Amino acid sequence: MTPLRRILVWISGASAGLGAALAATIPFEGAELIDISRRGGTPGVQHVAVDLADPKSWAVVENDFRQRIEAGNPELVVFIHNAGTLTPLGSADHVDTEEYTRNVLLNSAAAQVLGQSFLRAVSGRDCEQHLIMVSSGAANRPHEGESSYCAGKAAIDQWVRTVGLEQQHRSPGCRVISVSPGSIDTDMQAELRAASPDEVPVSDRFREMQALGHLAKPETVARTIWSLLDRDLPSGTVLHVRDVT
Ligand SMILES: NC(=O)c1ccc[n+]([C@@H]2O[C@H](COP(=O)([O-])OP(=O)(O)OC[C@H]3O[C@@H](n4cnc5c(N)ncnc54)[C@H](OP(=O)(O)O)[C@@H]3O)[C@@H](O)[C@H]2O)c1
Repeated sequence: MTPLRRILVWISGASAGLGAALAATIPFEGAELIDISRRGGTPGVQHVAVDLADPKSWAVVENDFRQRIEAGNPELVVFIHNAGTLTPLGSADHVDTEEYTRNVLLNSAAAQVLGQSFLRAVSGRDCEQHLIMVSSGAANRPHEGESSYCAGKAAIDQWVRTVGLEQQHRSPGCRVISVSPGSIDTDMQAELRAASPDEVPVSDRFREMQALGHLAKPETVARTIWSLLDRDLPSGTVLHVRDVT
C-alpha cells in the first residue's frame, strides 16, 4: 500500500465487471473513490448517478471533477474511463437506431468529452495526473455485429495518441494511456455469448473461450491496470494488458 496522500480517483462503470474490480483492488489507502454509473452500489465508493449515453450527464461529471479537485487540493488525481457497452449487437442495417445512437454516445462521444473535461479540470494543477481509457482489441479488428463498439474503441485509441502528444508539452502534464483489457469474465461477455453467430460471428470464439476457462478474472486484469500508474510509459501510449509483463 502507498502511504496516505490526498488522492482522488474516478472510475466510470464501477458498478459492475472490470470497473467494480478496479474499485475493489485500488492500491491507495484513504483515497476518495467515485463511481460514475447508473446503478452504483459498489461498497466503499461514492456514486455520481448518471447515464453517460445522455449528453446532459457530461456536464454533471465535469462539475464533479472540478468541485472535488478544488475542495480536495489533491496530490494525485486519476480518472479511469471504463464504462462501455456492446448493445445493440447486430449488423448496422438491422439494429435499432435509438440503441445504436446510445452506443455511439457512450463508447465514442462520452469518452472524448469526459476525457477533455478531466484534462481541463487538472490543467495547470501541481499534482500527479493520470487518465486511463479502457479500450478493446475491437479497436484494431473489425467484428461484424459490433460496428459502433469497434469504431468507439478505435476513436478512444486515436484520441489518446493525440492528447498524449499534447500533454507531453505540459509540466506537469496528465499521463494519458489507453489499455485493452483482453477477454474478461463479465456481464459484457455473457451478452456477447448470447448473440447469434449469424449476426455476431465472433461470439463463437467467446463461447469457446468460456468453455475452455480462458476468460480472465476481472480482479487480475484490474491489478494489471493499476500497475500502469507506476510504469515508465509516455503519455499517449496505447497498449494491451498482455504487453504488460
Ligand atoms: N469484458 C471483456 O471481455 C472486455 C473486453 C474488451 C474490452 N472491455 C471493456 O472493458 C470495459 C468494462 O467492461 P465490462 O466487461 O466490465 O462490462 P460490464 O460488466 O457490462 O460493465 C459495464 C459498466 O459500464 C457501465 N455503463 C454501461 N452503460 C452505461 C451508461 N449508459 N452510463 C453509465 N455507465 C454505464 C455499467 O454501469 P451501469 O449499468 O450501472 O450504468 C457497468 O458498470 C468496457 O469499456 C469494455 O468495452 C471488456
